[in-house]
Amino acid sequence: MRMRKKRRCAERLFALSSLFCQNITNIDNKCDMIFDKVRPIRLEIGCGKGDFICQLSRRDPDYNYFAMEKVSDVIVVAAEKYASSRGLGGLSPHGLWTDPDGRVYSEDERWDIPVDMRGNVRFITGDAESLEELFGPDSVSDIYANFSDPWTKNSQTDRRLTAPGFLKKYGVILRRGGSFRFKTDNIQLFEYSLETVRSSDLELTYYTHDLHASDRNGNNIETEYERNFSAKGFKINYLEAYKK
Ligand SMILES: C[S@@+](CC[C@H](N)C(=O)[O-])C[C@H]1O[C@@H](n2cnc3c(N)ncnc32)[C@H](O)[C@@H]1O
Repeated sequence: MRMRKKRRCAERLFALSSLFCQNITNIDNKCDMIFDKVRPIRLEIGCGKGDFICQLSRRDPDYNYFAMEKVSDVIVVAAEKYASSRGLGGLSPHGLWTDPDGRVYSEDERWDIPVDMRGNVRFITGDAESLEELFGPDSVSDIYANFSDPWTKNSQTDRRLTAPGFLKKYGVILRRGGSFRFKTDNIQLFEYSLETVRSSDLELTYYTHDLHASDRNGNNIETEYERNFSAKGFKINYLEAYKK
């Protein structure tokens, strides 16, 4: 995702840092401290500006969610969207976080949001390469990757989030019966992904080249990219695979 540098990004991230999990390994063992309640874990990789995770976490509240994104200027938008949606304040006209009591967090000020107000989503600024350090084996119920970058050059295919190396990691951290769900407008990336999933340890159980016309559409939550591409007439490809 191309994103212009966000004004005061570091200060804004710091203000909401109690919604983030950074430099923590084996997060799944620490959920009793991270959330108000231990629940099954869902993970979105490449959450972008956060529409999907905000909506999914509200629709299915019986899970704890982690939203991972490698670009700080993008994840800050997702975290702020989530915080606003939970009534935790908003950005001031000067571009600084302001809590519901009107306190503005500037410079090196961090808001220690009480755990029971933080809700069921935490953000991770990081690369999916590090998934096995973050989550232990058999710990995640569902993984979502939406409209991930196609990396079109032959030399870059290993970076695709459906490359064999990533699918192997998903297979390790997913629980038995846990799912991997992937959608994209990019047909070449989708055909590649069908092949890599079929050759992986995950079991491909469903796919469609037109999600919005499929029986899965009722359950679908649109992402920012999805709205954009489907408005331009692109069909949305979708697959589901499970850990046996
Ligand atoms: C094309 S955007 C899609 C954003 C959002 N999921 C949507 O559908 O609107 C892909 C996002 O995935 C992130 N991303 C790509 N590879 C990643 C990786 N290896 N680890 C974490 N995030 C990644 C990018 O930084 C980018 O924000």
